[in-house]
Order: sequence, then structure tokens, then C-alpha cells
Amino acid sequence: MAGASSTASKKTVLITGGIGWALAKAFRARGFHVFATLRDVAKAGGLGDDGDDDMDALALDVTSGESTARCRDAVAAKTAGSLDVLAFAPLLIKARGTVADNSSIAQGLPMAWTGDYASSKAAAARMSEVMRVELAPLGVRVVTVMVRPVATPMFMRPGGRMQLPEASHYRSVEEFAHRMRLLHLDASMPVAPFANQLAGRILAVADSSSTIRGLIWLGTYALLVRCATWAMPQWRVDQTANNDKGVDLVKRLCSCLLVMV
Ligand SMILES: NC(=O)c1ccc[n+]([C@@H]2O[C@H](COP(=O)([O-])OP(=O)(O)OC[C@H]3O[C@@H](n4cnc5c(N)ncnc54)[C@H](OP(=O)(O)O)[C@@H]3O)[C@@H](O)[C@H]2O)c1
Repeated sequence: MAGASSTASKKTVLITGGIGWALAKAFRARGFHVFATLRDVAKAGGLGDDGDDDMDALALDVTSGESTARCRDAVAAKTAGSLDVLAFAPLLIKARGTVADNSSIAQGLPMAWTGDYASSKAAAARMSEVMRVELAPLGVRVVTVMVRPVATPMFMRPGGRMQLPEASHYRSVEEFAHRMRLLHLDASMPVAPFANQLAGRILAVADSSSTIRGLIWLGTYALLVRCATWAMPQWRVDQTANNDKGVDLVKRLCSCLLVMV
């Protein structure tokens, strides 16, 4: 683990979450001291081992005030109370640091079966954008990342599977929708190059001479979504976003049922 002296001489970054694991390595490769956080530090693997002076693995559950305060204190103790990139407002203000929040390109697309996820990402993006304005007077920059599909365990999480009541009109496509979701992985970018590009973009924003503000759309796929949602008529956006999602199948099955009745 890093001592206070080695940490104090470097820029510091605190990272949460899965893509964050690859981001941690990308920031370390750029000469940062990294605080890589996870709920269960026992799962940190090789990261933050005694031999690695530039990486600390810290426990953090962002839903717990107690856990967040413990993590903040641990970071502050190592950095003399400052932090250059990511979380903890008082530490960031001291360092005139940068926050990068992950949202998703899904937040702006009316894509079937993603209502809960996409709306949470839309809320997170708006929160992040408001924070950008509120923290600017204190010298803190905030960027919101419109993340494209990236190959992480996210797609496999059991919570993402639709489970519908037997009487649901959509029951017939439950399995189909799940398979389509897993197929997203085929369109996903490997996490390491994504994290590497993202670290570069965040540091470009963090540069004191930078005038870049607002949203980061990373990669061709994300830019396509950005342009298409701006330029295409809504019916075309709906059609493109919902190609192969099973919506037509529901329509056909319902029409058949009506004919039979
Ligand atoms: N992958 C994509 O294609 C994609 C696309 C668009 C947006 N995003 C967004 O990018 C972010 C990261 O996604 P990912 O793909 O890396 O997902 P992931 O592989 O499922 O990782 C999620 C991470 O969040 C952590 N986490 C969950 N609850 C937490 C809590 N209460 N406190 C602290 N950490 C917690 C998990 O830690 P544990 O190990 O402790 O469970 C895990 O490391 C998410 O916001 C996701 O919505 C991802």
C-alpha cells in the first residue's frame, strides 16, 4: 500500500465500479495514485497489494453514509486532504479537481425493456449536469460520460432479467428479450481500450486550460446515437433502437389472439 509521502507527490484519483477496475489501471499507467474502491475489498485480487505503491484498494458502499465517510477519511489521510479526480466534494474543492459520472447512451433512447435502467441513467445524467453548474464556482469540473456498450459483467447480472406475470402481454417475449440483451455483448467494446480512452478524455477535461465542458460521448457508436437522436425523425429512432427487441413479435401475437377470439 502507498505511504502518505508517495501519494502526496502524485495526482490522485478515486474510482468506483466495474469499468472503474480497468480505469484504475489506465490512470495508474498515466502516473496517478489510484484509490480503487469496491464493496468487498477481499475481491480486490492483485490490486492494492503491498507491492503496488500506486494503488490502494478501499472499501466503499456508496449507499452507506458511514462507509462513504470512512473511505473519504482514508483518502484524506493519504493525500493531506485533497483529491484530483472523481469523488468527495470537500477534497475535490481543495484540489480544484474533476468528477466524471457514468451515464449511458441508453438514457436518450426509447429502447424497449430498458425503462428502469434508462430512466435511472437519465436521472443520473441530469444530476451530474446540475452538479457541473453548481460546483463550477468552486473550481471543480464535472463531466458526464455517455457510455456505449462495454464488455463488463453488467449484462450477466441476474437483476437485469425480465420476470413477468403469466398474464402479461409481454410474457411471450420474456426469454427472447433476455437473449437479445445478452447479444448486446457482441456489440460491446472490450473494457481495457474503453477505459484507456476514457482516462484520456477525463484528463483532457481536468487540464486547467481546457474549455471542454458537459457530456463525453466516447467512440463512434456513442457519436452515432448522439447524431441520430438529433437528426432522425422520431419514428426512425424508435425503429432503429427497437430492431430485434421483440416488440413486433408482441404485436403479431396479440393480433393472432384477437383473430382467434
Ligand atoms: N457496461 C456497459 O455497457 C455500460 C453501458 C452504459 C453505462 N454503463 C454504466 O457504467 C457504470 C459501470 O458499469 P459496469 O459495466 O462496470 O457494470 P458492472 O461490471 O456491473 O459493475 C458495477 C460495479 O458497481 C459496483 N457497485 C454496485 N453497487 C455499489 C455500491 N452500493 N457501492 C459501491 N459500488 C457498487 C459493483 O461493485 P461490487 O463488485 O461490490 O458488486 C461493480 O463493481 C454503471 O453505472 C453502468 O450503468 C455501463
